Amino acid sequence: MNRQQLRKSLLAQRQALTAQQREDAAVQVLAHLQQLPELTQACNLGSYHSVRAELPTAQLNAALQTQGHQLALPVLHPVTPNHLLFLRIRETTIWHTNSYGIPEPALACADILPLAQLQVLLVPLVGFDRQGNRLGMGGGFYDRTLAAWYAGQLPHLQPIGLAYDCQQVERLPHAAWDVPLPRVITPAKLWDFRN
Ligand SMILES: Nc1ncnc2c1ncn2[C@@H]1O[C@H](COP(=O)(O)OP(=O)(O)OP(=O)(O)O)[C@@H](O)[C@H]1O
Ligand SMILES: [Mg+2]
Repeated sequence: MNRQQLRKSLLAQRQALTAQQREDAAVQVLAHLQQLPELTQACNLGSYHSVRAELPTAQLNAALQTQGHQLALPVLHPVTPNHLLFLRIRETTIWHTNSYGIPEPALACADILPLAQLQVLLVPLVGFDRQGNRLGMGGGFYDRTLAAWYAGQLPHLQPIGLAYDCQQVERLPHAAWDVPLPRVITPAKLWDFRN
């Protein structure tokens, strides 16, 4: 299967999960996440606002905030097309729905958290393989976001994919711009692809 076919098939599998299965999966993923030493100290943590059948993040984000982590969520870059900015979330944050139908914090320059100031970045995905190769929604947004990290320019950032177990495949065809993930958390386990 090519990437398009794989994306279609993986999206259908994710869609077939019940709301309860999705919420249960998120609880298990959060439990694995909280085992990470990186998460024991309050840190700046990039996350995402889950849409459709993505691994749900509403409870997970709320729990991380309660534990003292400063969350930052992505917004479409207002000037550079197809790039993301990460904005600090506050109680007073005003939300908008972007052109993809995804809620995002209202853009305020003072709220921008550069990637260099994030210790952890939780990454949504459609599929991943046994080498950590990642398949997203097809926009290349996270490939662009993680390009500097992949080039070694953000040594303190830890990208972590969040997924259901059904999103794992044996092998994903990947292109030169695709950035593989060092780690992915599913309900079953924490997958570490770093060695
Ligand atoms: N670093 C990059 N520089 C230029 N173009 C890029 C880059 N990364 C991705 N692209 C472009 O973005 C398009 C989509 O990429 P791809 O299919 O890898 O998306 P994806 O990884 O599934 O999506 P996403 O990362 O948004 O979840 C490709 O056609 C590619 O040309
Ligand atoms: Mg890609």
